[in-house]
Amino acid sequence: MIQITDLHKKFNGQTVLDGIDLEIRDDETMVIVGPSGCGKSVLLKHIVGLLHPDSGSITINGEDITRYSEKQIYELRRKFGMLFQSAALFESLSTGENVGLWIKEHTDTPDDQIEAKVERILNLIGLRGIQNKNPSELSGGMKKRVGLARAIIHDPQFLLYDEPTTGLDPIMSDIINDLIIKIRQELKNTAIVVTHDMTSVYKIADRIAMLHKGKIIFIGSSDELRKSENPLVQQFIQGKAQGPITL
Ligand SMILES: Nc1ncnc2c1ncn2[C@@H]1O[C@H](COP(=O)(O)OP(=O)(O)OP(=O)(O)O)[C@@H](O)[C@H]1O
Ligand SMILES: [Mg+2]
Repeated sequence: MIQITDLHKKFNGQTVLDGIDLEIRDDETMVIVGPSGCGKSVLLKHIVGLLHPDSGSITINGEDITRYSEKQIYELRRKFGMLFQSAALFESLSTGENVGLWIKEHTDTPDDQIEAKVERILNLIGLRGIQNKNPSELSGGMKKRVGLARAIIHDPQFLLYDEPTTGLDPIMSDIINDLIIKIRQELKNTAIVVTHDMTSVYKIADRIAMLHKGKIIFIGSSDELRKSENPLVQQFIQGKAQGPITL
């Protein structure tokens, strides 16, 4: 379980996280939504220890990680898989090498076993036999899926996705959504997904948290989100320019 309590973060005097309280339960898919610039990515970066809060705590498996040393943070990252918005593949490596990178760098696993694992994961995500391709030969949707394969290769307890479907066509988005669900079922892990894509939200979320001006203004199921009487929530899910949320 991840327990975030009263988390505050400012950048150069600008408040970005203004007292975030959020619990992410084991084995759930928690989706975080909110207007551009409201602090979703900043929140994810705190959870993996890439950013340090001004105050508040983040307890993971019972330990407050905001008190961790650099070495402990490094160890903590083993528990996480992260799919970045731009798949962030290394062009100097083949697709297979990209996927197997974590295991090669962090374990003594022999190459043939890494290759077998890479093959298994690529089959899981529907990209059989592309190990030897260079990332530059892949389409955007394929890159996203390879990024996903790379994020799950070490069976992480927590999977974090930052806008996994942004920039993809509706069919590829649905393929990614199905994969997020399938991976959750196969690896039995906890997922946190940041997205703007409401179709994706309704399909994959167990619970949804909406962020606005550094605070959680809604938390609940898809049904509760649809029925929410909060005008901020309604404006966001209906995608209207007019309303209480202004840029
Ligand atoms: N390292 C940083 N230094 C200074 N300001 C930052 C830093 N990271 C983020 N910010 C600021 O914090 C705010 C929230 O940024 P964040 O990236 O979390 O937004 P977001 O909700 O993910 O938006 P989007 O939906 O557009 O990705 C923005 O105003 C951004 O400029
Ligand atoms: Mg972001």
